[in-house]
Amino acid sequence: AAALLATPAFAAYPERAITVVVPFSAGGPTDTVTRILAEAMSRELGQQIVVDNVGGAGGTLGAGRVAKADPDGYTLLLHHIGMATSASLYRKLAYDTLGAFDYVGLVTDVPMVIVARPTFEPKDLKGLIDYVKANKDKVTYANAGIGAASHLCGMLFMSAIQTPLTTVPYKGTGPALTDLMGGQVDFMCDQTTNTTNQIKEGKIKAYATTTAKRLAPLPDVPTAEEGGLPGFQVGIWHGIYAPKGTPKEALDKLTAALQKALADPNVKERFASLGTAPSTTAEATPEALKAKLESEIARWRPVIQAAGQYAD
Ligand code: MLT
Repeated sequence: AAALLATPAFAAYPERAITVVVPFSAGGPTDTVTRILAEAMSRELGQQIVVDNVGGAGGTLGAGRVAKADPDGYTLLLHHIGMATSASLYRKLAYDTLGAFDYVGLVTDVPMVIVARPTFEPKDLKGLIDYVKANKDKVTYANAGIGAASHLCGMLFMSAIQTPLTTVPYKGTGPALTDLMGGQVDFMCDQTTNTTNQIKEGKIKAYATTTAKRLAPLPDVPTAEEGGLPGFQVGIWHGIYAPKGTPKEALDKLTAALQKALADPNVKERFASLGTAPSTTAEATPEALKAKLESEIARWRPVIQAAGQYAD
């Protein structure tokens, strides 16, 4: 009995594969970030990390799935700023945003780019704004549903130009990008983790980044500031969550593995090539993620309420 008492519970965790739910389609930005990170984290944890894409309702379906999962450390959620905006966008969520999860840590803060199908007429952001206003009943904007990053950026854009637009919702910006390249939809605001290579290969047009400064992998893409949308900035921060009640020993091991993975040179390099950077060790903590989520819910609530009429 003494021996049993001496072995802290979860000392052997993880003893089997861990599932990370990505609340958007495979092949999109959230999936891309998760798969790069999962490779490094599974090396640290000595167990396979299985990515489960649960798309729908702007990411809230996948979040709800994890909120209800067994808090045993074997089901996690990797989600982004949508965790905060959904708290204000949905009158009734299937989960309590601030009560249903434990926190592992922040992962990365991804910039966005306003992109369009390759045949879209406008030459620059100013031209895009003029064209969209003049053709507001014809132009289509793609997003990944209410609560997605592409929805948030679109809402900010539509309220900046005071022009609500027809939106085409997808289960992720992976499939949305496929339609954009095929010309089925006109434009979108998406994360660099999904669009950097397609922009460089000329498969889509890029008008502006949502950053204060131009991005190293996309030096020819002006910032929205330069293009005539002052203050048009949004960064898509990502975090890893577990169902509330997950044992602290498991959470501590996950946070340690996350911090090691984010410091991995290969992870840094792959993130950098996609326009982003890993969160620091201090950000990759439960406290930092909790604080970020709470402050971002408070930050975006009034913006969403003011711009609400532009949400699709
Ligand atoms: C995705 O992974 O598909 C994106 O995060 C969707 C979005 O948030 O726009």
